[in-house]
Amino acid sequence: MSNPWSGRFDEAPDKAFLAFSSSLAEDALLVREDVVGSLAHVATLRDAGVLTAAEHDAIARGLRQAYADLREGRVELREELEDVHMNVETHLAKLVGPLAGKLHTARSRNDQVALDLRLWTRRVLLDLAAASLDLADALLAKAAATADAAMPGYTHVQPAQPVTLGHALHAHAERAMRDAERAMDAFRRCNASPLGAAALAGTSFPIDPRRTAERLAFERAFANSLDAVSDRDFAAEATFVGALAAVHLSGLGEELVLFTSPAFGFLRLPEAYTSGSSIMPQKRNADSAELLRARAGREIGALQAVLSILKGLPLAYNRDLQEAKAPAMRSALHALESLRMARALVAGLEPVPARMQDALALGFLEATELADLLAQRGTPFREAHHVVGSLVKEAERTGKGLGALAAAHPAFAGADLAGFGPRDAAARKTSPGGTAPARVREAIATAQARTVALRQAERAARGRIDAAEEALLRG
Ligand code: ARG
Repeated sequence: MSNPWSGRFDEAPDKAFLAFSSSLAEDALLVREDVVGSLAHVATLRDAGVLTAAEHDAIARGLRQAYADLREGRVELREELEDVHMNVETHLAKLVGPLAGKLHTARSRNDQVALDLRLWTRRVLLDLAAASLDLADALLAKAAATADAAMPGYTHVQPAQPVTLGHALHAHAERAMRDAERAMDAFRRCNASPLGAAALAGTSFPIDPRRTAERLAFERAFANSLDAVSDRDFAAEATFVGALAAVHLSGLGEELVLFTSPAFGFLRLPEAYTSGSSIMPQKRNADSAELLRARAGREIGALQAVLSILKGLPLAYNRDLQEAKAPAMRSALHALESLRMARALVAGLEPVPARMQDALALGFLEATELADLLAQRGTPFREAHHVVGSLVKEAERTGKGLGALAAAHPAFAGADLAGFGPRDAAARKTSPGGTAPARVREAIATAQARTVALRQAERAARGRIDAAEEALLRG
């Protein structure tokens, strides 16, 4: 069929313009969404008496056939038809004839594209939540196994105080759980149907957008048609969810790069996730972790792109909105890949406790512990800091141990310094949320209960969506 507005035009569209304006690369991911949305729409048209039951049934059957043909590759998407909506409708016309022309009653591509993108985004948000939870679970399992393993903790990448590896892994799990929560929050705002807004003003056909929303298992329908066709907040939010998760993974990637380097040697990655060198025979590089570190760049760029495209747009549909689809959709898929890679790396991570123990001897990690001891004995903390600082200076100059110098210093007279070495410091950090093994185990148990609850919410939402969409596709 020629394009739907050919009645008003004398000239056919320019080929270069057609290619320039096509959104087919991303629309290819929206075929299912487009068909499901149309199935809900025609059911609402039937309920409103706009379509007869027989017309509805014929169109619905045609839509299901069109979906099967496109999915199984019997029909290809054609670029000159611009987008998925025109492709589905054109194929439907081949299957059911002129009746296909009734599908677009009380609907515009403006509310249709908003719907398709919402259907796709709400599912990908659940995927992001699930992948973040999978990562959190892998981190928590590793954390539980390493709750006693003391290692140097760093600030500014300089030795600071001993922590346990389990504590560090649990910290990354907390980030992943917030990512899952953020995805579920964004899901709630995404879960509203724009269908029935039509071009921008609503429609004079007696349809009820709430019926369409229910059929698609949306929590609600739009409140304002002008807003419904222009709102892409959900796409921006999904891009942010992916970008922040990617930023978290870049930090994890950086730590994996550092700690698997022989200079630290605290962790080993399975060979399957590392690469060798084409010239240096000894090399085993943590490429997977480096890529996690780098990939955040693309997600951040996508967020910038989406927000820049949305900025300054007047209400209702503007063709600019099409351009936001690619960065929003690609970045979500990209973030999913990174989350899944990170989970595999974490699951295969092997701690090397002997190297962590050796490193505890470097960098005077017990210095704060000794200052705290003086403070507990009544010395003002600032003064205690000064005393221990001068002992560190002396230790650096003479090569003597900090503990031995402290034992000989009058400020520590009568103090029992056993238990104040770097190997013991982590166990003493028993304040809530602190690094002591018992605290870490408690925190892991609380976190595990949280991931269970989040996963239940994610599965319940997915179950509702699957049931509704499958019922429409089944007929
Ligand atoms: N291909 C368009 C998009 O993805 C579909 C909506 C077109 N609407 C319009 N009025 N041109 O945004």
